[in-house]
Amino acid sequence: MSAIVAAAPRDVQMPRTVDPRGFKQGMRALAGAVAILATEDPDHGCCGLTATAVCSFSADPPSLLVCINQKSSMAAAIREGSPLSINLPATDQEHVARAFGGMTTAKGVARFSAGSWARGESGAPILIGARAVFECSVGEVIARSSHLIVIGLVLAVTLDREGREPLVYADGRFATACNR
Ligand SMILES: Cc1cc2nc3c(=O)[nH]c(=O)nc-3n(C[C@H](O)[C@H](O)[C@H](O)COP(=O)(O)O)c2cc1C
Repeated sequence: MSAIVAAAPRDVQMPRTVDPRGFKQGMRALAGAVAILATEDPDHGCCGLTATAVCSFSADPPSLLVCINQKSSMAAAIREGSPLSINLPATDQEHVARAFGGMTTAKGVARFSAGSWARGESGAPILIGARAVFECSVGEVIARSSHLIVIGLVLAVTLDREGREPLVYADGRFATACNR
C-alpha cells in the first residue's frame, strides 16, 4: 500500500489550547514505552529516532501507530514510504535510546554505532537484542500540525530476550516498567 499524505483541512478552526510548557509539564506524568524507530533514506542512508508516541493500532490487520516530528531527519523517508522498524529496547539498551533521542552528538547514520544493528527482511535496519522488533511497511501517513501520524503495517515480528525488562520514560528520565 502506498503512503498517503493529507494536509489539515483548511476550514477547521483550531480551538485555543494551553501554553505548551504546561502541556509538557503534565505529560511528564505519562509513562511511555520507549521505541527506537529506524529506516533508510534513499538519499542519506540509515536514520532513526527514539519515540514514545507509539501504540498498537489494530490486530486486523496487525498495525502500529507512530507519531514522527515533520522536522526529524527520518520524516522524508517515511513520506516516501520506506519500510521502518519499530524496536522495543530492553533496559540495558538505554544508551541506544539516548543516541537516537538526540541526547548525544550522534546524528544520522552515526547513531547506528550505538547497539548492534542488522538488515531486517523488510530492508529496514533492526536492533539486535531488542525485546521485540516490528518491521512495517508504511500504510498511511497523515500530516497534522508538527507531526506525521503514521500507520505501519506489520510485515515481520522478531522476539528476543522476552525475559528482559522493557525500557520506559517518565518524569524526564529512563526507567524500567517492572518491579519483579
Ligand atoms: C524519550 C523520548 C521520546 C521521544 N518521542 C518522540 C516521538 O514520539 N516522536 C518524535 O518525532 N520524536 C520523539 N523524540 C525526539 C526525537 O527522538 C529526537 O528529537 C531525535 O533527535 C530526532 O531525530 P533527528 O535529530 O535525526 O531529527 C523523543 C525523544 C526522547 C528522548
